[in-house]
Amino acid sequence: METKLLQNNKKDLQTAAELIKNGNIVGIPTETVYGLGANASDPEAVRKIFAAKGRPADNPLIVHLAEFSDAVKYTSSIPELAYKLAEHFCPGPLTIILPKNDRIPMVTSGGLDTVGIRIPSHPVMHRIIELSGCAIAAPSANTSGLPSCTSAEHVMKDMNGKISAVVDGGQSKFGVESTVIAIEGDDSVRILRPGCITKEMLEKYCAEVIVDHAVLDGLAENEKAASPGMKYKHYSPKADVIMIEGSLHDFTEYVARFDRDTTYSLIFTGEEKDFPYNCLTYGADSLEQAHYLFQRLRELDELGAERVFVRAPSAEGVGLAVYNRLIRAAGFEVIRI
Ligand code: TXA
Ligand code: MG
Repeated sequence: METKLLQNNKKDLQTAAELIKNGNIVGIPTETVYGLGANASDPEAVRKIFAAKGRPADNPLIVHLAEFSDAVKYTSSIPELAYKLAEHFCPGPLTIILPKNDRIPMVTSGGLDTVGIRIPSHPVMHRIIELSGCAIAAPSANTSGLPSCTSAEHVMKDMNGKISAVVDGGQSKFGVESTVIAIEGDDSVRILRPGCITKEMLEKYCAEVIVDHAVLDGLAENEKAASPGMKYKHYSPKADVIMIEGSLHDFTEYVARFDRDTTYSLIFTGEEKDFPYNCLTYGADSLEQAHYLFQRLRELDELGAERVFVRAPSAEGVGLAVYNRLIRAAGFEVIRI
């Protein structure tokens, strides 16, 4: 299959929308990361997403809508708290898990009776949803297990020949995937995946925000995952990723022992001046680190890195999302010096 590269113009967005309406899959830009979009109500189309990504069938897809008011069409009930949070955070990088109805087939929900609803703020994505008239199921556009895609070029790299088209909507703004939450009570939510809508931001609008323990600890053996995505290896470049907590001084001493052509360090922007070994930087604060993380992990693969030492980021605010992606890339192994 030839994968067309489409641009952000009227004709091309119409083409992307038609492709989706007709049961094909298209790489689409969002403000978090690129997605692989298909008509969420068309089981055949959704199956193509799982095949293109090599994604396990029990890992559910997020369903993207133009407005939160459309959620009633695809869910069986919506708690008051969901409306309240949507009012403040939609459109934006938040996914709310709700009970699904029959318009969401079981392939889309990975066999669950719930569906993650997200209202993306990226204007290109918003336009494609409107033009297609579909609810768009879209996981991140990467091959399963690899770092997510933050540019059309990354999507082409993973999906060329496997999908109908990619729409170039520029560099993804946030760079990490949406915050996924489950509503647990009248005034309580659980964060299943941290993102740029932080615990602190959610706490302004509800009494209790629990961060699921799997976000930082992973799953215990035989533990049932609150979100199926927690079970799978994720965000990993080919290289062995090792996260190190400690000062720059201790980090530098530690990695000195392993200095090789194929060993790299991923450090904070500004630290490279005095750092004597192979390195890339991934930002000076949490928002920048979120923006650059996946791009850098992909670059490390292109450089042929076999081992990557990473300066552990702050796990506060947006940093929790960055820390979560890195600790998963590192298989939950952290060296504390
Ligand atoms: O920012 C994002 O969320 C991007 C863009 C494209 O919107 N999408 C994305 O999708 O990251 P994906 O499939 O790569 O990650 C979705 C995560 C998975 O870990 C999945 O298990 C979880 O959300 N999830 C989806 N539906 C769920 C449900 N009904 N219950 C529990 N977890 C769910
Ligand atoms: Mg993903």
